[in-house]
Amino acid sequence: MSDVVARPAGLKKVADFTRMDQSTEADYALITFEHKALGRALPGVILGMLEAQKGDPMGYQVTRYEHALQSATRAFRSGASEEMVVAALVHDVGDSLAPYNHPELAAAMLKPYVSPETHWIVHHHGIFQGLYYFHHLGRDRHVREAYRGHEHFEATAAFCENWDQVSFDPNYDSMPLSAFEPALHRIFERTPHGPATKQ
Ligand SMILES: [Fe+2]
Ligand SMILES: [Fe+2]
Repeated sequence: MSDVVARPAGLKKVADFTRMDQSTEADYALITFEHKALGRALPGVILGMLEAQKGDPMGYQVTRYEHALQSATRAFRSGASEEMVVAALVHDVGDSLAPYNHPELAAAMLKPYVSPETHWIVHHHGIFQGLYYFHHLGRDRHVREAYRGHEHFEATAAFCENWDQVSFDPNYDSMPLSAFEPALHRIFERTPHGPATKQ
């Protein structure tokens, strides 16, 4: 990991345009260079988001921080792949910014760095997790059946059954966040893929 990258010679300090339809290739050489710094900073931003979940447990017996660690620890101890362990660690990191559709936020964050399967699991975990509590809210707990037969159905069901829905236990011996930091760096420092990240 490297936080400081040498600035190419001849790069502008500031772009000239005030509206994109007046931008130039030289402007975008600069913007592209600067934008990559966001990618390099991402692991630190995510770690900060996880740390911020240490606060109010909001009625649960564990904080969202503990839930994240516990989910990731269970995934790790199950022998899950490194990207799946990291996905388990961050699967609820969108709670604060997207309280009504948090799975989409974590999935979007992961998408350029993980397999389609891992992305699908995180994106759909909220609906699948509904099996365990939607009926308490007057909703259909089997709403995930709409996806029955999908190639990632069983893996998503297993994610919820074995790692997510069980990780509200204050007596579980979770691994510390520091144990997952190297893996988190390795996943989010992969070369990103996807249309929005092509260089
Ligand atoms: Fe969730
Ligand atoms: Fe969760």
